[in-house]
Amino acid sequence: MPIYRLSVNGAEHRVDTDADRPLLDVLREDLHLTGTKYGCGEGQCRACSVLIDGKALPSCRMPVSAATGKQITTIEGLAKGAALHRVQQAFLDEGAMQCGYCVPGMIVSTVALLDRTAKPTDEQIIAGLNGNLCRCAGYSRIVAAVRRAAGGNHA
Ligand code: FES
Ligand code: FES
Repeated sequence: MPIYRLSVNGAEHRVDTDADRPLLDVLREDLHLTGTKYGCGEGQCRACSVLIDGKALPSCRMPVSAATGKQITTIEGLAKGAALHRVQQAFLDEGAMQCGYCVPGMIVSTVALLDRTAKPTDEQIIAGLNGNLCRCAGYSRIVAAVRRAAGGNHA
């Protein structure tokens, strides 16, 4: 099988696998980065979102061959040592999780949103997280966590 070079969380990896294998499977099974979750496997829930060159994208539908040469960041790559990323801390502080399954994807999407729009309005938060599904329907706390991560309410 071909070998693909992946840059994940600042580390270089060589992965011997099929070209069309989903990036999500490689992250979870080969690199043991299990923070990224498998939800629908069809690009519909965004539980599997990772940052690819700074953009939050579902990894379940991306073939590994398309991810070579790009900077990939998973939920594991956001904290710096023991210090959580401010978005992770905001989700904790707001209690913005019930089962927690959607949260890695929500956090990754929030990081990308705040990178584009540092002080989003509530409408921009909702639009930015559109497509990230929470089966526990914890949306109000999730929006509150994004507001907190952005430094306050900008509605
Ligand atoms: S598991 Fe990728 S979008 Fe649902
Ligand atoms: S907290 Fe359970 S799916 Fe969102």
